[in-house]
Amino acid sequence: MDSIRIVGGRPLHGEIPIGGAKNAALPLMAAGLLTEDRLLLTRVPRLADIETMSSLLAQHGIAVERTGNDGRSLSLGGPITNTEAPYDIVRKMRASILVLGPLLARMGEARVSLPGGCAIGTRPVDLHLKGLQQMGAEIELDFGYVVAKVAGRLRGATIIFPMPSVGATENLLMAASLAEGTTLLRNAAREPEIIDLCHCLVAMGARISGIGTGELVIEGVEKLHAATHAIIPDRIETGTYACAVGIAGGDVVLRDARMEHLGAVARSMEDAGILITEVPEGVRVRRANGLHGVDVMTEPYPGFPTDMQAQFMAMMVVAEGASMITESIFENRFMHVSELTRMGARVNVHGSSAIVRGVDSLHGAPVMATDLRASSSLILAGLAAKGETVVSRVYHLDRGYEDVEGKLSAVGARVERFSE
Ligand code: UD1
Repeated sequence: MDSIRIVGGRPLHGEIPIGGAKNAALPLMAAGLLTEDRLLLTRVPRLADIETMSSLLAQHGIAVERTGNDGRSLSLGGPITNTEAPYDIVRKMRASILVLGPLLARMGEARVSLPGGCAIGTRPVDLHLKGLQQMGAEIELDFGYVVAKVAGRLRGATIIFPMPSVGATENLLMAASLAEGTTLLRNAAREPEIIDLCHCLVAMGARISGIGTGELVIEGVEKLHAATHAIIPDRIETGTYACAVGIAGGDVVLRDARMEHLGAVARSMEDAGILITEVPEGVRVRRANGLHGVDVMTEPYPGFPTDMQAQFMAMMVVAEGASMITESIFENRFMHVSELTRMGARVNVHGSSAIVRGVDSLHGAPVMATDLRASSSLILAGLAAKGETVVSRVYHLDRGYEDVEGKLSAVGARVERFSE
């Protein structure tokens, strides 16, 4: 199993390329199930989760092929030969549930394993299922599987989400694109990844209005067709490296990053004393002076993303003063705290809030994390630590960050991967 060794204390200078967004790529790949024609996605990152989704689509019968000179294009197409998403694949990645809407809309049936427990708290899929039922699907649970059927096509419906859900919005958007009649999604999630999915669906022939708002109107069509779509840059990878600069100091351009997707993250970073500006190549991040404690609360987009909470905390741990970090999206998403504490951080968790009291420096330690963003927060903490930090179980990291050790080393950090 691979581990990553970090020796902290060096400022970062240079350029880090930002890849295509994992959380945009996964639903876009599921959208490949909506047509027999070819969907060509470009700027697809090389990540374990993309491989998992590729295996899932392949076993549904889709021909999945990496193409292009840079190997970053993915061609999807062909008939669906199997409508079952087996537990063995779904258990590796929750986003597998995104095949449910497309399979049901195109084939009239789907049998998809329930994603099951997740390290960051109970994450139900009730909103996905209720929405599909409102569109006429019959849904049963059978031996850990969601079994969904519809006679003929799904039907347009008005679906009001009690809270914005990224996955449920995506599943229902895809299903509604091929439904009969008009679907209204109210209180829909507005993340940039959803806007990206809408743009791709429109390129495939879908009729969607209200893109970028919480109220999406989808007029179903009978068929979707071939399209080519470039995936947006990853705003969480961007924010993670911005925190790396905040922690280590220096001046780095995050190439291809988009300032407009950072929303509350950019504001919180500025409040913490980081200079973050839009430049023609992407986003430039600098820290000349000290860091200050800033309070943040995770919220649906455009609020502060839960996927940036652990990394921001790693930065607050070495800021001057205190900060309160509140997690309002997922319960139990503070697993990085105990590991950060082992490196000398002063953090107290009370319910869904963590009080961080900044310290002058951390000290290196062997640490490990049980989820993706928690793992990246430990790498960041390692940049602030005196001595050597070893982060083990980096397969979590590989689900969502491409070549983290290469990207950080290229800007001057001492970070290397090794096999234990
Ligand atoms: C997506 C992201 C994940 C991110 C999360 C929140 C992908 C592949 N994953 O996950 O990285 O952390 O958005 O920004 O894009 N909920 C229900 N019932 C449901 C669905 C969700 O109660 O049927 C709740 C969840 O428990 C959570 C909240 O709604 O409290 C938001 O979850 P959701 O937006 O659905 O997250 P995911 O789509 O799973």
